[in-house]
Amino acid sequence: MTPKKICGIGAGYVGGPTCSVIALKCPEIQVTVVDKSKERIAQWNSNKLPIYEPGLDEVVKKCRGKNLFFSTDIEKSIKEADIIFISVNTPTKNFGNGKGRAADLKYVEGAARMIAELATENKIVVEKSTVPVRSAESIINILRANHKPGVTYQVLSNPEFLAEGTAIDDLLHPDRVLIGGEDSAEGRAAIEQLCKVYENWIPRKNILTMNTWSSELSKLAANAFLAQRISSINSLSAVCEATGADVSEVALAVGLDSRIGSKFLQASVGFGGSCFQKDILNLVYICECLNLPEVADYWQQVINMNEYQKSRFSAQVIESLFNTVTDKQIALLGFAFKKNTGDTRESPAIHVAKTLLDEGAKLHIYDPKVEEEQIMVDLSHSCVIAEPEMIKNRISIHKHAYDATKNTHAIVLCTEWDEFVELDYRRIYANMMKPAYIFDGRKFLDHEELRKIGFIVRTIGKKIMKTGIS
Ligand code: NAD
Ligand code: UGA
Repeated sequence: MTPKKICGIGAGYVGGPTCSVIALKCPEIQVTVVDKSKERIAQWNSNKLPIYEPGLDEVVKKCRGKNLFFSTDIEKSIKEADIIFISVNTPTKNFGNGKGRAADLKYVEGAARMIAELATENKIVVEKSTVPVRSAESIINILRANHKPGVTYQVLSNPEFLAEGTAIDDLLHPDRVLIGGEDSAEGRAAIEQLCKVYENWIPRKNILTMNTWSSELSKLAANAFLAQRISSINSLSAVCEATGADVSEVALAVGLDSRIGSKFLQASVGFGGSCFQKDILNLVYICECLNLPEVADYWQQVINMNEYQKSRFSAQVIESLFNTVTDKQIALLGFAFKKNTGDTRESPAIHVAKTLLDEGAKLHIYDPKVEEEQIMVDLSHSCVIAEPEMIKNRISIHKHAYDATKNTHAIVLCTEWDEFVELDYRRIYANMMKPAYIFDGRKFLDHEELRKIGFIVRTIGKKIMKTGIS
């Protein structure tokens, strides 16, 4: 049987784009994305979608109202669906057992309980959220313990590998799709149904089927490997700064070894985003619970190195500005955790901003896609700013990079937005205090050109020359 109706629970960065692409590629299937947040659903139904993602607007415009719907009527959508995707958030727990490390599964459990309460026919439930290994077992236990007479469930693991900023392309052309399920006739039949959905646009050879626990662990493993590469190159950036080697040259040389490959070797101010840190902390926690402390320590180091990198970069800014930034005007360009997204979750810019504010700096912030309100929410958090009145006096949000940089002592680049490469740096230099500094936390500007203009340039993974004008 080919599925006719899909319900996606959770209209976030994963649920929205994933369901939109399924609707685009499977015109015969009716896809409804539901969320408990009325505001989010209203945004999905408006001309200004709740998330910025290149190519997403076009896909939504093409399908919305035809075979793609965004709704708060969770009950109707669950009842009608053959397949239900759970794409709710799984943040790091901030209370109780496992605080600061374990994944908080309350939203996944909430979704499972909702399905059990509402479903009146057999369902395939797909775990798309990133979860600890063996979470599918809890979902199936909840569903089977609360099922209505005659209603049966199959739970599949189908982790999502999209990256923000390239989500649509990642969904259209994934390296692989992973489906984990129960090794039984019913389990295999459910896997087959989900394969049919993906086969509408993905070659069968790119769809991997495996046991549920392997699928769940593979998702954590993939994120851990990616983050590990960034921490590895960032650790070497510190060696470069101490020795005169250049981390870009080292990354090039190492990455040309076809066994290693060149991707994810870009040294930076540190990785951000909602998942790398959360998923590795979760992996560390699982290892500790499994009494594998050596394995836990091994992965914890990837996080420690990232913290070190963010602190090192912030410290470099302060040290270069004559060891004090008190009352200095500093432009922070880029607030999102990477380019082409408006997402600021775990953005290194927050860490940098906090350190500079703690040291008494006045910040002028500009990001092309992050709303002013979001920046204020992120910086108002009690773990960032202890005194709320500091917000008004010490932070200004600007609508253009030129305004943000005017009369400042230094520019700190935290996100590699393309438009920052195109800026007229002569104009910026003319309007800055002197000496004018640029701290390139992404290693993406033309440093030689900037030096010719007169800037003092500091970046990651390159030694500062003794003259101070490197
Ligand atoms: P998100 O916070 O953007 O969206 C989650 C949505 O689920 C929210 O809108 C929330 O209101 C909704 N929700 C929670 N409980 C609900 C319930 N019971 N009923 C209806 N709606 C409910 O999260 P996200 O970034 O989309 O991430 C979702 C999952 O996907 C996480 O497990 C994450 O680790 C994983 N993931 C994220 C990415 C990414 O790039 N963001 C990529 C791959 C995997
Ligand atoms: C990451 C993974 O790439 C996705 O496969 C995964 O699905 C997703 O996490 C998830 O599970 O949420 P995402 O966090 O959206 O995707 O973005 P990435 O492109 O992986 O970048 C993460 C962070 O690493 C960013 O801050 C980025 O600037 C940084 N980064 C990336 C580097 O510092 N150097 C690099 O070479 C690459």
